[in-house]
Amino acid sequence: MIKFDFCEIESSLLNKKDEVMQQFNDSEMIGWTRKIDSSIIFDILSVRDEVKKHSSCLVVIGIGGSFLGSYALNQALDSYFSSSSFPIIYAGTSLSSQYMNELLDYLKDVDFSINVISKSGRTMEILITYNLIKELMKKKYSDEELRKRIIITTDSYSGELREEIEKEKYTSFVIPNDIGGRYSVMTPAHLFPLSFNFDISKFIKGYYSGDKYIDDAYLYAVSRRHLFDKGKYIENFCIFENKLYYFTEWLKQLFGETEGKNGRGIFPVSTVYTRDLHSLGQFVQEGNKIIFETFIKVEESDKVLYNGKDLHYMNNIVLDSVRDAHFMGDVFSNLITIKQINEETLGELMYFFMMSSAFSGFLFGVNPFNQPGVEVYKNKVRENLDF
Ligand code: PA5
Repeated sequence: MIKFDFCEIESSLLNKKDEVMQQFNDSEMIGWTRKIDSSIIFDILSVRDEVKKHSSCLVVIGIGGSFLGSYALNQALDSYFSSSSFPIIYAGTSLSSQYMNELLDYLKDVDFSINVISKSGRTMEILITYNLIKELMKKKYSDEELRKRIIITTDSYSGELREEIEKEKYTSFVIPNDIGGRYSVMTPAHLFPLSFNFDISKFIKGYYSGDKYIDDAYLYAVSRRHLFDKGKYIENFCIFENKLYYFTEWLKQLFGETEGKNGRGIFPVSTVYTRDLHSLGQFVQEGNKIIFETFIKVEESDKVLYNGKDLHYMNNIVLDSVRDAHFMGDVFSNLITIKQINEETLGELMYFFMMSSAFSGFLFGVNPFNQPGVEVYKNKVRENLDF
């Protein structure tokens, strides 16, 4: 159950709801609202079980919408100091030769499998990382072993990774054509890496139950757009639980790539409070008034007593106080409250935010489901690196 408290929703944009819903329903890129086929879940779990039999670690190679969702969920759901989780290493998010060198060095003595994820199958960071790791794997494993250890997730008909699957007969998963990268949490791109340590059936259940928040998702979009019209060009996602850090990274991609087009959109940033109250807090309180905030509150957490008081209760009192203090500095905020951090609530929350970001894109008059700006950089790099 998610609770909402949005500010500034008295707006004529409320009347545009039917039009926005129509645009949404007419879109060809809303495959993420469709129920996932149970045979896909079955395949995910079977491949996971196989990998667990022969590997002691999974390397996930992905960037942007092909990694942020599962990374965010893994970070949010894992214990801070757990040693019992199946080790998952993420790679492909930079061209750091130091990271690559250290990773290859580490993997030399580890029995591992890889999951390469790229919807287009042609993203430079992914192909470079994949080819370097495959080179190492070829020294360690036979061709038959490679077929057990290389799992590729890509679209169904084109791209270099699709060609690789056809040529080498590697195990593969599909990202459907009507689901874009940042909207792909309900596809094997995220469910497979998530399945190693968490119950994906709970995540799936929560995700689809997010459907009941369509009205709230629209209100949130209206609130954000209204604040934008008042000169609030930056949205700061605020969390008081460090393990939601990558969840806010996921949010930044979701809203940034969805709205930031044609010279429009709200620039999304994030802060981890209370840590950042001791750095950026000064700017938020008294600096340029172009920021509004969206707080994510978690109602229940572990019980720790401090002088007879519940520490989590104190954390939430601080959250409420920060909202009040920032309001005194003319910084408006929205509040989104979940009961606990678990597979189900995060599934619901992701669905809610995905809906809302799409509505918001339509309210800004842009296509929420493309990212032509990202392609500009990708093409320039290809040209300059002759890649
Ligand atoms: O949301 C998006 O579509 C992008 O951020 C992509 O996910 C990102 O650029 C990676 O692309 P691909 O999955 O094709 O490698």
